[in-house]
Amino acid sequence: MDYSYGQNQAKWICHPVEEKEEGRVPVFRRRFEVSGEVRSVLLKITAHGIYEAEINGRRVTENKFMPGLTSYYYRIQVQEYDVTTLLQEGDNELRVMVGDGWWRWNNNFGYTLALWSELTLHYTDGSEETIITDENWDVGVGPIVRTDLQKGEVYDARMVAHGWQKAVLCNEHTEGVLIENQSVPVREKEHFPGMPTHDAAGRLVIDFGQNLAGYVHMTLRNTIHGQTVHLKHGEGLDRDGYFSTANCDGGRKEFQQITYICKGAEMEEYTPHFAVFGFRYVLVEGIEAEKADFEAIAVYSDMEETGDFRCSNELINKLVENARWSQKGNFLDVPVDCPTRERNAWTGDAMIYCKTAAYFMDVRQFFKKWLVDQTIEQYASGKVGITFPSTSSVHNPEELKTVQAKDPAMALAGPSGEGNIGEDSVGWGDSAVWIPYQMYLMYGDKTFLEEHYDTAKKWLEFSLRCMKEQNPMYADKLLYANGDGDYIYDTRFHYGEWNEPLPPAPEVIELFAKGGTAADYVTHMAKYGKPEVATAYTKRSCDNLAHIARILGKDKDSAHFADLSAKIKAAYDKYLIASDGSIQPGHQAAYVRALALDMVSEKKKPLVIAQLKKELETADYHLNTGFLSTVYLLPTLCENGLVDEAFRILEQTTAPGWLHPITLGATTMLENWNGMDVFRDSFNHYSFGAVCQFLFEYVAGIRPTFENPGFKEFELHPIIGGSLTFAEGSYKTLYGTIRSCWERCGKRFVYTCTVPEGTTAHLTLPDGSAKALSVGTYRFEGEQHG
Ligand code: BGC
Repeated sequence: MDYSYGQNQAKWICHPVEEKEEGRVPVFRRRFEVSGEVRSVLLKITAHGIYEAEINGRRVTENKFMPGLTSYYYRIQVQEYDVTTLLQEGDNELRVMVGDGWWRWNNNFGYTLALWSELTLHYTDGSEETIITDENWDVGVGPIVRTDLQKGEVYDARMVAHGWQKAVLCNEHTEGVLIENQSVPVREKEHFPGMPTHDAAGRLVIDFGQNLAGYVHMTLRNTIHGQTVHLKHGEGLDRDGYFSTANCDGGRKEFQQITYICKGAEMEEYTPHFAVFGFRYVLVEGIEAEKADFEAIAVYSDMEETGDFRCSNELINKLVENARWSQKGNFLDVPVDCPTRERNAWTGDAMIYCKTAAYFMDVRQFFKKWLVDQTIEQYASGKVGITFPSTSSVHNPEELKTVQAKDPAMALAGPSGEGNIGEDSVGWGDSAVWIPYQMYLMYGDKTFLEEHYDTAKKWLEFSLRCMKEQNPMYADKLLYANGDGDYIYDTRFHYGEWNEPLPPAPEVIELFAKGGTAADYVTHMAKYGKPEVATAYTKRSCDNLAHIARILGKDKDSAHFADLSAKIKAAYDKYLIASDGSIQPGHQAAYVRALALDMVSEKKKPLVIAQLKKELETADYHLNTGFLSTVYLLPTLCENGLVDEAFRILEQTTAPGWLHPITLGATTMLENWNGMDVFRDSFNHYSFGAVCQFLFEYVAGIRPTFENPGFKEFELHPIIGGSLTFAEGSYKTLYGTIRSCWERCGKRFVYTCTVPEGTTAHLTLPDGSAKALSVGTYRFEGEQHG
């Protein structure tokens, strides 16, 4: 809803002293009188920054980090609260603190924090009064001296709000349309008491036992006036036992810190207001362990938990817990890659994981809100942001020039009109097609398809245009001579498998040895293209869009994309899969991708599977897939007769593999399989948690169907394997909870399942027999085949 019309007269207001680098945290105040009996009072409020509002000293809501993150230049959410019980007869005060939030973090959107609000009092006599933000408000500063989502907060408890002046109207980027709240509220969730310990240097470190995103509530006793307590938040102790943030701070000096200056009291308590950190440990300075208590509070979008999986392998159970925790740690209004270093809402990560996310929690509204920003920010070229809402720290083309002059690596930053070089990347941009498609599958909600069809089509048409470009590097290739160049995508920069646990290619090692920068690397990659990856993902998007178009009754589009898909598949099979089934550049990903995305002719399939088997053997049954293919690895093995191999890889406890970090005490998913061994990279990167999709869909065997999405009809196809003697999955659908459970003893199995009312399950038992089941709880026994 657009609030900028009708009786809504509120204005954006800010502090009168111009803000640039200083980082002032304004406190806004409006005093007013209530005379008469009030029936109801409604507060509408939003901010450039994030706000905390109080009426007469009482918080208006427990929700955090509002108004949430949207493409602020285009749309900004307004929250509404019924605050009737907070008002009193006579004098009242509405007070709002506004912290930097996403608006000023890295100066993403602007420099000035601002407030917009309307308080409407409905009196019992039928009259109405509205108090709006305008020049009648006061603004000062308070005890929060500085605050930044990532750097942290400096709080001087000796101070009270002061320096009151009249607020002025703000005109920095006030063009965003005010809309109704669409965010799932962010709330304080689990609490973890801290265990005091010491690192190798003898420093006081608090261990909360769980890596999470949130902050620490501290209770300090017998403090003295001016005593300063510092907290630094990190994910681990390094290999020598020292507290360190080197794995996740991206080289930042000011990182995840709290500075609290005591007023001096028998007891004082503090919880940060506008900062959120990724951490399990906190380094404490300025107070002894006996004089303080620390409690970590996890903060994330408060979604209902919907699914669970358990089995006889405790390490796999812990893997499920860790994946769930990485979801919690990264789903704070938008899905970010990690809660520490980057905190960007990367499309690739979300695309890989969105279905798993839906098994764990009801993410329908979470993705619904987020995807709108992808559409809003889509470039004229059809590219979509690699991260969105865009947090590029570049506000317009002129600013981009200035920034690039200082730092050429910022050539990667948008908006440059056509989208940056990273935004060509398949597997990331394909989120525009994939996420709505998967959300439709999981929730049966067609509006995902209707609302995002044009965005998806524009993205795909962009990729198809790029597919037609010729790469001079490959000018002498047969495919060009044969006139098939239009169906192989061999140009542009693509992240590709990113993070494959393999040594870098020799020319990349050479490039960095010669002092090459990240930007040089990107240019280098763009020169070569990634035909095996780019062609496959573009074909997958053709398939998805053909299907979406069919669902939406756009038959012409559907036929068009289906036809392209067939042509691309034929070209891929002919030019990119050699006669012995090998695919460049080898390794598991090449084969998994080709099989999973249906790029292989029936004729070559056995050869490709044989190549994959060889790769598994060479890797001693450890995975070596990267960012994109890991989610497909185990399902692809099962679909192609390699069930034993799939379970063997799943249950590996040495690196690279999902269980390895768990043997070292991981409590979340890592960015790198051996990240804990070498103390490198983020310890809370959710995307590899997508292996849980395999646990739900293959081991427990619960799978949705496109024919009747949202689990109105679903498959039960449990797969018994590895060391597991039992497995149980459950998933709460709109109709009720599905349960699927097996136990085995030798070849004998007992299978039980629950089918919710109004749904149909198509069951395939481990003995190969099939049944259609309606509502009820069932038990079957048999002998596993094969
Ligand atoms: C992020 C990822 C992201 C990737 C792009 C990384 O720095 O942390 O999760 O998808 O860049 O390849």
